[in-house]
This record gives sequence, structure tokens and C-alpha cells, in this order.
Amino acid sequence: MNENYEALFSGVIGHDYDMLNLICPAATKMSHLVGETLKNYAANTTEKLNIVELGGGTGITTLALLNASENIEILSVDNEAVMQNQAKKNLGKWVTAGQLTFSQNDALTALKSLPDESVDVIASAYTLHNFLNTYRADVLTESFRVLKSGGKVINGDRYALDDISQHTRTIQDEVAIYFRVLIAENKLDLLEHWIIHLFGDESENHIMRESIALQQLQDEGFFDIHLKHRVGVNALMTAVKP
Ligand SMILES: C[S@@+](CC[C@H](N)C(=O)[O-])C[C@H]1O[C@@H](n2cnc3c(N)ncnc32)[C@H](O)[C@@H]1O
Repeated sequence: MNENYEALFSGVIGHDYDMLNLICPAATKMSHLVGETLKNYAANTTEKLNIVELGGGTGITTLALLNASENIEILSVDNEAVMQNQAKKNLGKWVTAGQLTFSQNDALTALKSLPDESVDVIASAYTLHNFLNTYRADVLTESFRVLKSGGKVINGDRYALDDISQHTRTIQDEVAIYFRVLIAENKLDLLEHWIIHLFGDESENHIMRESIALQQLQDEGFFDIHLKHRVGVNALMTAVKP
């Protein structure tokens, strides 16, 4: 990753970006890939693109999207005020420029409030894996409804490996890294938080397994479905509405 890129993100998002980069460099990379994918999509049109971001958090993915093109308007949705308030603080410049607005609704409620075929791109990183499987299915149905024809879903996230033994080994390696990095940083509170969160991610009613996730998109009616750039459990999914 280019140094200027790192400096931009570290400068705007601050400590949160640096910490995530340290614990899980694949996660920050995935946000950059979401931005790059939007950049390629935006290069094919002169029309202003209407983007909905699900789970903006502190603004890492939002900044990657804002960096992709000036010809976009983003509605960034996150139902955790503490997270979204940091994004509001970090990204005020783009709010003033009229390129960024926020919704504090949960993703499904926010999508339900949007008209049919009104959105060009639904983008997200590390949000969908947090959803209960049933809620995620409803979010996909609503995403399909609100997207315009030719509109795209771009999601960088944790896609569990279909080979369950291999997946377990990957998670074990991941846990070893959390311990190594966070003990060295003396961040035991964060270590506890990540391990507890991981149990949620890995639970049967949350886990987003690759083949099931891709089949679900196909069943909704999406096409041109791809899962690329896999690093461990992290991968970039894209899909298009016909
Ligand atoms: C792990 S963070 C990802 C933030 C950012 N996209 C990134 O990659 O760094 C996931 C975010 O999703 C939000 N989130 C989780 N469930 C949500 C829901 N049902 N609706 C809206 N936001 C949600 C959380 O509050 C959190 O800020």
C-alpha cells in the first residue's frame, strides 16, 4: 500500500486506523479495495452516483469511498452513535461539501426508507458479518430493491471458508496474531474485546460462509457475483443487479 495513502487515512481517522492496521492489516486493505472498486465503477459514468454505505463505523471505509470519486453522494448508515460520531468528527469536510450525510438507523430500517431503484452502489466493509443470518437475508432483499439496474453491491468482509477445518486453522492463526500484537502493545482490554467479538462472528447464527453467501446473492437475482482478494477470512465480494 502506498505511503501517501497510509498517511491520508492515518491523518484523518487517527488512532483507530493505526490500531486496526496493526491488529488486522487485511481489514484496512479491504476498505481500500472497496474504494478502488467504486473508483472503477465511477470511471464508467459522468452521472452523480448515489451511494449507501452500511456500517460506516469511524469512517475508514467512508473515507476510501470519498477518495474514489468527487462525483458521488454518500449516505453513511450506522446504528452505533459512538462510532458514527467519530466519523462525523473525522469527515466534517465532506459533510460541508454536501458529499456525505449520515443516518443513525440500523441498516435494514435505513434501506426500507429508500425508494425502489434509487441507489447506484451499496458499499460496506466488516458490517454484514455482524448481522444475524436472517437479518442479513432481509438486508440483501432490500438492497436488491433499492438498487438501480446495473447498480452494484461492494462488500469487503469476513467470508468464512467452505473448508471448515481450514477455516478453523485460519481463525487460530488470527487469534495468535491478536495475542502477539496486543500483548506487545499492552492493550489487554482491546484483546478481550476482539476475542469476545470473534465468538459472535464465528457463531452458527452469524457466520457468513462463502458458498452460502454467494448462493444467497444469486437467489436474490444478482449476477456477475465475485469473491476476490481473499486473505485469510477476508475477501471482497461484488455483485450486480441486472
Ligand atoms: C467493524 S465496524 C466496520 C467499520 C468500517 N466499515 C471499517 O471497515 O473499518 C462495523 C460497523 O457496523 C455497524 N453495525 C453493526 N450492525 C449494524 C446494523 N444492523 N445497522 C447499521 N450498522 C451496524 C457497527 O456499529 C460498526 O460501526
